[in-house]
Amino acid sequence: MRLLITGARGLVGYHVAQLAERHGFLPILSGRGPNPIPQYPYFNADLTEATAVYELIRQAQPDAVIHSAAMTQVDACQAQPLICWQNNVLATRLLLQALAELFPKAHFIFISTDFVYDGFPIVQRPYIEGDYEAPLSVYGASKLAAEAWVKLYPGLWTIVRTTQVYGWTPSLRRDNILLRVLSKLKNQQPIQMHSDQTRRPTWAGDLAEGLLLLARRRAQGIYHLAGQDILTPYQFSCQVAEIWGLPASLIEPVTQEKLQLPAPRPLYSPLSIEKAQALGYQPHPTEVILKSLRQTIPL
Ligand SMILES: NC(=O)c1ccc[n+]([C@@H]2O[C@H](COP(=O)([O-])OP(=O)(O)OC[C@H]3O[C@@H](n4cnc5c(N)ncnc54)[C@H](OP(=O)(O)O)[C@@H]3O)[C@@H](O)[C@H]2O)c1
Repeated sequence: MRLLITGARGLVGYHVAQLAERHGFLPILSGRGPNPIPQYPYFNADLTEATAVYELIRQAQPDAVIHSAAMTQVDACQAQPLICWQNNVLATRLLLQALAELFPKAHFIFISTDFVYDGFPIVQRPYIEGDYEAPLSVYGASKLAAEAWVKLYPGLWTIVRTTQVYGWTPSLRRDNILLRVLSKLKNQQPIQMHSDQTRRPTWAGDLAEGLLLLARRRAQGIYHLAGQDILTPYQFSCQVAEIWGLPASLIEPVTQEKLQLPAPRPLYSPLSIEKAQALGYQPHPTEVILKSLRQTIPL
């Protein structure tokens, strides 16, 4: 089974690429910049360009696609909505169009976000697939618009919503909550973390396993893939400090009202993972992951 992985230089795409062979797939990578895993075929392509996308699909001849590429910086998306829309909506639509024309039997797996929800559920419980979507930010709206295109794909499709992904890869150009906290605390600098946002932090390795499980099972529809523990960013950061033996006193708990970021975020967006767990998805406890990452992340 030929599996095309877009955004293979990014945090999630790289983890998927590393694990794909173990799940019986031949990984074919795509990204912008040098090949992050040279033993696999790689295509340099800007997915906002129709010609490049059609050429990519023609050459990759995929049986399945995990579409991980996106403009992921939420505040940059808020500042540049058009560029965000091109990277997140147009690119997804072009991939779907090319597949529908050239390889209509290919399974399309799209990675979306908890930011499609507004964080004001009627009942305070983790969001389940099918709950009402109402994004607060340009980024969330762009991912929901891309989801709408995915649902029109005539072939097999899966939408995977995930949240607050953390981890490390050698090709990484952007930080994430784990790397941000480590970098500040190692340099004895203070950091402010939200104590009024409720999330379900997700290790990129667990997410990659879940994505490949859904690909293997050819699961159709919407799935939530997130971590095991429901935590605020402040609680997560304190766990990081404890496990790395760094000063948690440098972490200041703040509210969204005090630390205002350009893009509004949902206050409460833990995702229910029960539907994916029924298929065999098994994320690790945060503590176990952090202890293991402590051995591998170079600082
Ligand atoms: N990280 C999270 O907390 C989180 C949470 C929920 C959902 N997600 C979703 O999960 C997916 C993977 O996220 P991630 O954390 O792996 O993000 P990432 O590390 O920022 O990786 C995204 C990759 O997409 C590439 N890309 C962006 N626009 C492209 C284009 N037009 N053509 C080709 N490549 C392009 C980027 O390349 P450049 O480096 O060249 O820009 C980057 O390598 C995304 O769909 C994201 O929306 C992430």
